[in-house]
Amino acid sequence: MYYSLLAPYGFPHYITRDFELGGYTIPEGSVVFANIIAINNDPDYYTNPEKFDPSRWLDEHGQVTGRERVLTFGAGPRSCPGDIVAKMELFIFFTSILQFYTVMPEVEGSVLDETPILGFIVKGIDQNLVFKRR
Ligand code: HEM
Repeated sequence: MYYSLLAPYGFPHYITRDFELGGYTIPEGSVVFANIIAINNDPDYYTNPEKFDPSRWLDEHGQVTGRERVLTFGAGPRSCPGDIVAKMELFIFFTSILQFYTVMPEVEGSVLDETPILGFIVKGIDQNLVFKRR
């Protein structure tokens, strides 16, 4: 679906009063996490969710569609306030880098290790890259 998620389980939230959700009682004092990685990769909604395929978000007119269920930045009143600035920054950084450089593994012909390191946030394995001016 995506190349990666930054915060696969969102931020922890403390429950201030008992409430019911889906037939379960969530007691006051609990700490809950949103399973964002499961929501964003839900096979009931997406075909081949594990596949990185940006075209799934475009309709037949090339317009962005189907993003309502995507919770990369959380949901509700405590969702990420940096959502818009983060998207703008990522767009500017990636397009600027790719406009001027071809990015390659240090050893030509080798394959980058894309194994994610899962934790509170997801990060990649440290690897050297070569930025070759286009
Ligand atoms: C790709 C970049 C980012 C991702 C994927 C991301 C994702 C998230 C997620 C999942 C949450 C938890 C939301 C929830 O609990 O429902 C969060 C909270 C938060 N984020 Fe981000 N974030 C990003 C960038 C930023 C940036 C650039 C800023 C600041 C400029 C920021 C500031 C915050 C703050 C202050 C919270 C806590 C909000 C609260 O608890 O009320 N984030 N973010």
